Amino acid sequence: MTVKKPKLTLEEIKALSDEILALKEEKNAVLLAHYYQIMPIQGIADRVGDSLGLAKAAKEIKKADLIVFAGVYFMAETAKLLNPETKVLIPNVKASCPLADQCNPELIDSAREKYPDAPVVVYVNTTAETKAHADLTCTSSNAAKIVERLDVPEVIFGPDRNLGFYVQKQLPEVKLHFVPPNGHCYVHKRFDLETILAIKKEHPGAILIAHPECNPDIQEHADFVGSTAKMLRFAEEATEKEIIVATEKGLVDRLSELYSDKQFYLAKNTAICRNMKRITLENLRDALLYEQYEVTIPEAVQINAKKAILRMLELS
Ligand code: 13P
Ligand code: SF4
Repeated sequence: MTVKKPKLTLEEIKALSDEILALKEEKNAVLLAHYYQIMPIQGIADRVGDSLGLAKAAKEIKKADLIVFAGVYFMAETAKLLNPETKVLIPNVKASCPLADQCNPELIDSAREKYPDAPVVVYVNTTAETKAHADLTCTSSNAAKIVERLDVPEVIFGPDRNLGFYVQKQLPEVKLHFVPPNGHCYVHKRFDLETILAIKKEHPGAILIAHPECNPDIQEHADFVGSTAKMLRFAEEATEKEIIVATEKGLVDRLSELYSDKQFYLAKNTAICRNMKRITLENLRDALLYEQYEVTIPEAVQINAKKAILRMLELS
């Protein structure tokens, strides 16, 4: 039987946050956090962002002795690839992204054999090894722009099929070959139209915003589809006061805190990424205290994986 850990009290959250801030200062560390982190972690981070924003932030880091990444493993790997001389830490090595594990070098190699003229664009939600086999990466924020800028008739694309649908809708003239055929994020797959329509019935004035990892039917019904950072900007600028949000709960928590004059409804209350939530204040404190767990990438992988990310950053 697994015993559930009791929730931290406000005093404990404050004490841990103070400890982390002091350690961060003492060790000259930069803390990067994704929007899907719990609010206390977002509140003490040097930079909070979506995967593109955090990759850009990682590239700009100049004088840190340590980078601590509050997010999933592929994001910490990206920070390491862009800062090979700096020690990069992830507080829990089990904070992996199941979507990232759905594509691999073998799948890419066999797709290349079938479509030798098609460049390979992989979502940043992939391992460094997979990135090293690709020509360039993309994020949910720039996927369509990257594919468009390649100006080619066909592209090998993976692993998220729904993000592929989003790209394909904007660029119907480009043929996408998916690797794997049906890659998906288990969190965004949880949204269903029936629940969304029921929320809409209760709040008839509410609009729907969705992440491109959501299924096509959700995207088709959405008033806006975009990456987490783009959803945030859209919500800020929207004149509507009620917004249904189809992405991970962390973004809804942030939106509710930032824009308290608006009402945000999570489109499904089980939309919680348990992998992102493996980062806690306690293991974040321990990461800084014991300088654990260091992210390392074999040199042979580093060179090509970094190239794929830099190419994306140049084009986005
Ligand atoms: P963003 O690119 O919007 O940060 O999304 C990353 C992610 O893991 C979504 O599930
Ligand atoms: Fe991966 Fe989905 Fe979690 Fe994003 S929400 S980190 S894609 S499992």
